[in-house]
Amino acid sequence: MAYALVTGASKGIGKAIAEQLASKKINLLLVARSGDLLQSVAKNIAEKFNVKVDHLPADLSRADAAHAVFDWCVKNNFEIEILVNNAGYGLSGLFEKYTPEENMNMMQVNMFTPVLLCQLFLPMLKRQKKSYILNIASSAAYQAVPYLSVYAASKAFILSYSRGLRHELKKTNVSVTAVSPGSTDTDFVVRAQIGEKGLQTAKKVNMTAEAVAKMAVKSMFAGKAEVITGFINKLGAFMVWLMPKNLVEKTAMRIYE
Ligand SMILES: NC(=O)c1ccc[n+]([C@@H]2O[C@H](COP(=O)([O-])OP(=O)(O)OC[C@H]3O[C@@H](n4cnc5c(N)ncnc54)[C@H](OP(=O)(O)O)[C@@H]3O)[C@@H](O)[C@H]2O)c1
Repeated sequence: MAYALVTGASKGIGKAIAEQLASKKINLLLVARSGDLLQSVAKNIAEKFNVKVDHLPADLSRADAAHAVFDWCVKNNFEIEILVNNAGYGLSGLFEKYTPEENMNMMQVNMFTPVLLCQLFLPMLKRQKKSYILNIASSAAYQAVPYLSVYAASKAFILSYSRGLRHELKKTNVSVTAVSPGSTDTDFVVRAQIGEKGLQTAKKVNMTAEAVAKMAVKSMFAGKAEVITGFINKLGAFMVWLMPKNLVEKTAMRIYE
């Protein structure tokens, strides 16, 4: 039986992506740290959409997490045809205010675990008739963001990696899509400890997780390479490309400092 594996599916964009996929009658494997929350999300989705949903509580900041997820799938004969690398978070403020471990953990979740999951699952994805990798990047991938420096760099990494991998897999059955949401109304801002100015800016342009998920899943099935969600965010990325880097970075700095 084929499944979509969604990381960070306990809430926010990941949960909304899981619901989108379930509405298309796709069976799900959900991964996040919060076991109880994940269990209730899995139960609700299974009942509402009449699909099979399994879940695995796992901390993807652990270096061995991707292997644990992969081993769980192999042990249970879960065949993956869609891999959604959505789990991720930011930490705002001065880079040096966080411990090396805190910054490393974020890089592990945002970059290393997704890459490892792609690597481990690729042979399985290639066995399917048609399969997909959906990596969630961010509008922060398009510029350096002072006071969100590591986060923005990690998203630039995943965007670039996705585009490269897509070309490598062009002649295979595996399609790779990177989706870059802008501000989305989730718990992201809480974990990232975004300050008042950032919160007010986000409020003006926030999209819902459902709207982002709908666009992400649609783009994935359409085989798109890279999608920025929402007109304002697309315009923002265009302006970033157009304007002097220093000016763009100083503007972002005023929002997050
Ligand atoms: N919201 C935005 O404005 C925004 C904008 C651009 C990009 N994004 C990206 O969208 C993705 C989803 O974020 P969101 O906005 O939906 O945030 P969210 O509501 O905070 O959800 C984050 C998800 O990731 C999971 N997660 C976090 N750390 C984890 C870990 N160490 N191990 C396993 N799972 C972990 C969380 O589950 P647990 O806490 O249960 O582990 C949760 O399911 C992220 O990659 C984020 O960078 C968000």
